[in-house]
Amino acid sequence: MKTIIEPFKIKVVEAIRMTTREQREDILSKARFNPFNIHARDVLIDLLTDSGTGSMSNLQWAGIMKGDESYAGADSFYRFQDSVRKLTGFEHILPTHQGRASERILFELVGGPGKIIPNNNHFDTTRANVEHSGAEAIDLVIAEASKPGLIHPFKGNMDVPRLEALIKEKGRDRIPLVMVTITNNSGGGQPVSLENLRAVRAVCDKYEIPFFLDACRFAENAWFIKQREPGQANRSVRDIVREIFELADGATISAKKDGLVNIGGVLLLRDKNLAERADALLILTEGYVTYGGLAGRDLEAMAQGFEEVVEEDYLAYRIRSTEYLGEKLKAIGYQIIEPPGGHAIYIDAGHCCPQIPPSHYPGQALVCGLYRTGGVRTCEIGSVMFGNNGKAPDLELVRLAVPRRVYTQSHIDYVIESAAELFGQRDGMVGLRMTNSPPFLRHFTATFEELS
Ligand code: F0G
Repeated sequence: MKTIIEPFKIKVVEAIRMTTREQREDILSKARFNPFNIHARDVLIDLLTDSGTGSMSNLQWAGIMKGDESYAGADSFYRFQDSVRKLTGFEHILPTHQGRASERILFELVGGPGKIIPNNNHFDTTRANVEHSGAEAIDLVIAEASKPGLIHPFKGNMDVPRLEALIKEKGRDRIPLVMVTITNNSGGGQPVSLENLRAVRAVCDKYEIPFFLDACRFAENAWFIKQREPGQANRSVRDIVREIFELADGATISAKKDGLVNIGGVLLLRDKNLAERADALLILTEGYVTYGGLAGRDLEAMAQGFEEVVEEDYLAYRIRSTEYLGEKLKAIGYQIIEPPGGHAIYIDAGHCCPQIPPSHYPGQALVCGLYRTGGVRTCEIGSVMFGNNGKAPDLELVRLAVPRRVYTQSHIDYVIESAAELFGQRDGMVGLRMTNSPPFLRHFTATFEELS
């Protein structure tokens, strides 16, 4: 069959509040043209993020009831540990409240002034935690990643010759670890091949540098490997996931993505000494080592989520539904980052609205347009997010992130219809002026007015 159905039935529903275009005009202007300021109840389809916004299964909800809330040694912790160990093979498994807590602990231990962390592309919280420690974050994704229309099966790959050149230039002592983000969120949700991960591992071995993963979307990445990498089609996703983790000395994970939970994170370590130091920091700021800032019920939900996310019917549906959205947007005329990513589609707003210069935020204009037209909330990844040093980023993007197991195909068809209507009116779209520009992570709280 060509139709890939949602591989689940719906047992609980949550109402969406319908709004008219007129109401949305008013809501948008009261939110000062920043959809982060819009009350979620006023959003019809929320594509702001795929993080913590997924639906849990009946078995996860059953786990919530089973949660053991003992301070130390809770049953739920051991179930979580078994599930993560079965998936990754790691010895030291620390629960944290979300990905950035794992990052903060890791970079507090290995970062610091003078240190350099290479990555394919740092996600913004990863970069912020690296820089907060005093270290420098360097992105080394392959050159193909900067060409939106170029098709490449593994556009998230790290440029291995550049990595080796960096190590030679700066010296291995300044590089406490090499990190690779799977899938590469900041680069369009693009996967990294097994071949590339093995090549990075080989360079790390040569210079005796630990190799870490930012593994938020490890299952989606493994699915792409199974589909696209020669020789991998007959392996199970679980087997590929296991090999990916076995290549690494450690990993940070936000379980709000492929953990299929609303809150939770993991820090994985192989080195005993580093794990002991991480435990101490975990206790200092997150919680005891068997709960890490979470409730026992959250650990149960994660344990079950890590089982469900490697189910191949789920992954086939998940990746196909994102691809479907990308194909239709492209057919309308939008330039998107190609091929479609795993968790999101990224529209090139500069291509869509060439009349709006980067200084007037074409991405934000498109974000506002999508909200107005259909009540669809998306996120700018362009001059609003990255332009506070006065320099425009290479691309003015808008991300449509797809929450896991939340929207059906007809919801996605509605998004496509809204985007088509807006595309027809793109010549009339106007830019914005930023009226309040906070110093850090300004996309969350900046305010705007529309230029006429
Ligand atoms: N690393 C990557 C690649 C991410 O995409 C995220 C979160 C994090 C780390 C941090 O995890 O939010 O649990 O602290 N990404 C979300 C997003 C917020 O919308 O892309 P966290």
